[in-house]
Amino acid sequence: MNSTPDAPLSHIPRSLVSAADYAAAAPAHLTEQAWAYFSGGAGDESTLRHNREALDALRLQNRVLSRLEGASTKCTLFGVPYAHPILIAPVAYQRLAHPEGEVAMATGASAVGAGMVISTQASMLLEDVAAATQVPSWFQLYMQPDRDHTRQLLARARQAGCAAIVVTVDAPVNGIRAREHRAGFVLPADVSAVNLVGMQTHASFTAPLGASPLFGSGLLTAAPTWRDLAWLRQQTDLPLLVKGVTAADDARRAIEAGVDGIVVSNHGGRTLDGQPGSASQLPAVAKVAAGQVKILVDGGVQRGTDVLKMLALGADAVLVGRPAVYALAVAGALGVAHVMHILRAELETAMALTGCATLADVGPHVLAQAP
Ligand code: FNR
Ligand code: LAC
Repeated sequence: MNSTPDAPLSHIPRSLVSAADYAAAAPAHLTEQAWAYFSGGAGDESTLRHNREALDALRLQNRVLSRLEGASTKCTLFGVPYAHPILIAPVAYQRLAHPEGEVAMATGASAVGAGMVISTQASMLLEDVAAATQVPSWFQLYMQPDRDHTRQLLARARQAGCAAIVVTVDAPVNGIRAREHRAGFVLPADVSAVNLVGMQTHASFTAPLGASPLFGSGLLTAAPTWRDLAWLRQQTDLPLLVKGVTAADDARRAIEAGVDGIVVSNHGGRTLDGQPGSASQLPAVAKVAAGQVKILVDGGVQRGTDVLKMLALGADAVLVGRPAVYALAVAGALGVAHVMHILRAELETAMALTGCATLADVGPHVLAQAP
């Protein structure tokens, strides 16, 4: 479907009413390899499951007879107002999901006021993606082995109007991705990391199944360290978030390094398998960071009630990865607008039923103590 996002939602099949519906519909719109790439996690995919389990294990407490006039999901992140606190996570190679890839994603996001984080490994030029949205995009950075290349990416993101830099630090090597390997996933010839042309990248860090061992191979010598984060902080005056932090001590260290935000994330269960779900790790990071830096979180969010739970655990905003990609695969920009609209509508409903008129009213009391 190539409808524009402001085409009536009647263009969307009636059977699609939730993010889970889009997930169920997505395989029919993807090659087997692309489905394996988007849906898969690392190892036994236990962290992929824990992301959902940690959210499912939480219960909400309803509240009645609250005043809800003027209710709103509005929030401000780094001085920029957003209609709601649900952003689209950086996801590589979106042209595997739809011919118009990241531009369609940005167009759909923009139609419903959702922010989008553009991946370093986007399959379309970051300038074109950023230009497709009214809502300022953020740029996700993988630090490059050559610092000049990192500087070039930062300069391009700034020039394109990106409002923040999100440096991802949890994937110095790719996780072991059994589903991708089984499906024989390789990028098709017409999909590539076009923003990295001419740069020597970390691409060779892909799990060397059957190849020589990782340690001793030299592959890790270019992997970023805390020193590189300190360097990066000096290279940009845009808000800097660090993505992939789950340990309280790492959060403390990142704050000392001068970051403006932390994204609590296990990369959608795609890097270190065996980690707990993000919702389990969020409170400890939020405790360290409270009031000092913004806290974002992702991993397994597919309902507005999930968003509310994350906010109750201390997040200022939430990212969704696969839900947006599956909607992109099924219905292009219109699907993205639809699924983000659904998530926001579900969040509003959940806030109303827990007596929260604004995000400032959301707190731990929203979570029920009973099992
Ligand atoms: C990702 N993620 C990711 N993160 C990042 O910082 N840069 C990237 O290029 C990618 N690429 C990517 C590709 C695919 C196919 C997936 C599924 C994920 C991780 C992503 O930003 C986010 O952390 C998770 O996807 C969140 O989990 P959910 O919402 O997918 O459950
Ligand atoms: C992934 C890399 C691109 O998760 O971050 O596939």
